[in-house]
Amino acid sequence: MSSLSLSEKEAIILENDSDPRRILNMLIAIQYASEEGFIDEETAKLVADRLHLSEARVYEILSFYAILKTEPQAKYVLKICNSTPCLFTGGEMLSEVLEMILEVPADQPTPDGLFMYHSIPCIGACDQGPVIKIKDTVFGELTEAKVYQLIDDLKCGCYQEL
Ligand code: FES
Repeated sequence: MSSLSLSEKEAIILENDSDPRRILNMLIAIQYASEEGFIDEETAKLVADRLHLSEARVYEILSFYAILKTEPQAKYVLKICNSTPCLFTGGEMLSEVLEMILEVPADQPTPDGLFMYHSIPCIGACDQGPVIKIKDTVFGELTEAKVYQLIDDLKCGCYQEL
């Protein structure tokens, strides 16, 4: 079950004019906006239905593009806001620090399957920048030290709800 509501997914499809030529944009946007960071069966069916494509065609696209995932990639998917207000407050630093701590580039899960990170557009917490969102929880006003602490806390299971 995807964390995005049906109407949120439909809004993304409509933003792309329900145009099958823009299916890649839609799938990436849906994947990145969802908590789980992958396209589940229900979503693949929805996209096929709204674009009048066969499910087989949608799965062909899902398997062709490495950026698209059909399974959970990591326990914690850290989404870094890369919109301008957050960049002004140090958003770029977050990716650099995460790469240093986790020793993997963006969009690649850590070998233990615990972490993955990538950038997304504004999440509406612009007054708290720079921010990282994990599922529904926003971690704001982050500094390098706070990112280290966050990763330690996640490893220790301090955030049971996530
Ligand atoms: S610009 Fe980062 S949360 Fe809005």
